[in-house]
Amino acid sequence: MRVDFNPAEMPRNDFYKLLTATVVPRPIAWVSTISHDGTANLAPHSFFSIASVTPPVVQFSSVGRKDTLRNIEATGEFVVNFTPEELFEQINDTATDFPHGVSEFEAAAIEAEPSLRVKPPRVAASPVAFECELHSTLRIGDGTVVFGRVVHAVVSDDVLVDGHPEISKLRPLSRLGKNEWGTVSGVRDLARIRHEDWQGPAADR
Ligand SMILES: Cc1cc2nc3c(=O)[nH]c(=O)nc-3n(C[C@H](O)[C@H](O)[C@H](O)COP(=O)(O)O)c2cc1C
Repeated sequence: MRVDFNPAEMPRNDFYKLLTATVVPRPIAWVSTISHDGTANLAPHSFFSIASVTPPVVQFSSVGRKDTLRNIEATGEFVVNFTPEELFEQINDTATDFPHGVSEFEAAAIEAEPSLRVKPPRVAASPVAFECELHSTLRIGDGTVVFGRVVHAVVSDDVLVDGHPEISKLRPLSRLGKNEWGTVSGVRDLARIRHEDWQGPAADR
């Protein structure tokens, strides 16, 4: 038996909870920005993905109008910082609804470091950062999708093996439903099958 849900007949928050509980696990963009008066801002966004490879463009959605979105609209720049397990509570601290003008870097005691190509700072303890210039925004309902062209990437050598980021060293956090967060506890390897090597459906092999 399957249970049907009609979003048109459900309170907004109930369908939101269904969506976020089932579109899982979601990677988290820890987005740093600066306001036009120079206050640095930092907030996690799990509605996050890659939009394009050439040019390299990442995307995240702001649900509602938040400081992150306002700063990006004002300055045209942001940084996506990677969220490793060891920064779990710091990341959550930066999701607190501090009043406008309060820097999450200061309030949550997160060390910043200068970026190379953009004005918003990077999170010093995060092993990966994508420095982005605003490509475009797209308003959909109560959300705004922000597309950022990656103009520079930096990766700590601690997480590189033979020059490539290694999942067991990155230890990414993800967002699940409710207040749940995920960690990577198992990694399986399976190569894609070329048509010339196809030997029938998995269930029959
Ligand atoms: C793990 C996590 C993921 C989140 N993902 C999103 C998201 O994708 N979009 C969004 O608008 N808010 C998201 N939030 C909530 C924002 O981080 C929160 O509203 C924050 O205060 C916004 O900060 P700002 O006003 O400084 O931009 C998330 C919060 C957490 C803890």
